[in-house]
Amino acid sequence: GLAAPRRTDLAGRRVVVSAGGTREPLDPVRFLGNRSSGRQGVALARAAAERGGSVTLVVANVGAEVLADVGRDVDVVPVETGEQLRDAVRSAALQADVVVMAAAVADYRPAEVADAKLKKSGEPPRIELVETTDILRELVTHPPRQPQVVVGFAAETGDADGSVLDHARAKARRKGADLLVVNPVSDGRGFGTTTNDVTVLDRAGEVVATAAGTKAEVAHAVWDAVATFVDGGTG
Ligand code: CTP
Ligand code: CA
Repeated sequence: GLAAPRRTDLAGRRVVVSAGGTREPLDPVRFLGNRSSGRQGVALARAAAERGGSVTLVVANVGAEVLADVGRDVDVVPVETGEQLRDAVRSAALQADVVVMAAAVADYRPAEVADAKLKKSGEPPRIELVETTDILRELVTHPPRQPQVVVGFAAETGDADGSVLDHARAKARRKGADLLVVNPVSDGRGFGTTTNDVTVLDRAGEVVATAAGTKAEVAHAVWDAVATFVDGGTG
């Protein structure tokens, strides 16, 4: 809520948050990217620092205006590609009690990166893509440190195959993270906006919390849920 009490449940804890959207280069001037603003991840990092955590924020292509909201006391590591994000997250995660993957990571990247700018020619090029590493999945299967609480994010839309919650439950079980924070992105919600609504699922796909409000309020609700997983956390 608006008048949330000051909590110190992350005092003495090291936290890693990733935010923003990766850019996968095609040539020196072009990339495959996505619309993630990084606002929710920045709000999560700020909230964690407010709760006493030592916070590393790995940011992929987050604008200076958004990043200004992180406040002081957060160690910011800028990256561009998914591979760089993976390296930065895993390196910081060697010391971390909690890792939150709020970044939108490209699922595919161009198989080849041209050394020189691609020229326009008569025939539109076909761009071959290869799968990227699933960083969240890898944190679960190859933990840099244990114990470590791993939290994923999923922007979902409903479609003919199922509702937002159907897809989210399946993803929670597939990913194996301790928590999956789901936000519906239909009707322009979630991306690029200043408010958010989320449902937090555990690894079995069960709903453990819901929250709506500003990204700061949602961030604190996520940390409330995470606190129950952190060893010795009092919530
Ligand atoms: N993620 C990741 N590495 C990737 C892709 C995703 O770490 N290469 C993480 C995201 O940071 C997020 C979570 O996985 O925390 C869910 O991302 P999402 O794109 O929703 O899941 P996918 O398994 O890629 O499923 P899809 O894109 O098909 O919905
Ligand atoms: Ca994806």
